Amino acid sequence: MRALLPLLLTACKPPPSEAQHMPQIDVARGKQAIMHAGCGACHVVPGLRWPQGQSGPSLEGFADQGLIAGRLPNRPDILAAYIRNAPATLPGTTMPAMSLSESESRDVAAYLYASGKR
Ligand code: HEC
Repeated sequence: MRALLPLLLTACKPPPSEAQHMPQIDVARGKQAIMHAGCGACHVVPGLRWPQGQSGPSLEGFADQGLIAGRLPNRPDILAAYIRNAPATLPGTTMPAMSLSESESRDVAAYLYASGKR
C-alpha cells in the first residue's frame, strides 16, 4: 500500500486545462491599448508624451492612489472593470466606456500600476 502512495499522488496532479489557464498580464500590451483607445485625449498618462488631455484627472502615480474616481477601492479587478466600462462600474461617473477587451483592460490596469511607481 505504502509503495502505491507516490503513484497515487502523481495521478492526482491535475492536467493543465483551459479552465485553469490564467490569462497573462502584459504591461507592454497595456501601453499599446492605451494608445489605440486614445486615453491620452482626456488624461495625462505616464510614459505617453502626446497627447496629454486635461478633461480627466492625471493617471500618474496611480499605484499610490487610494480610490478610483474618489469612490471605488483601487484594486486591480475593479480598476480593469472601470477602465473598460466606467459608467457600469460607477454610475454617474463622467469617464466614458472604452472599446477594450477584458484582457486589454487588465493590461491597461497593470500598465497604470507599473508606470505609476516612482
Ligand atoms: C472622453 C474623455 C476620456 C477618455 C477618452 C478616457 N477617460 Fe478616463 N476619465 C475621464 C474623466 C472625465 C474621468 C473622471 C471621472 C470621475 O471622476 O467620475 C476619468 C477617470 C479615469 C480614471 C480614474 C482616475 C482617478 O484619478 O481616480 C481612470 C483610471 C481612467 N479614467 C482611465 C482611463 C483609461 C485607461 C482610458 C483609456 C482606455 C481613459 N480613461 C479614457 C475621461 C476620459
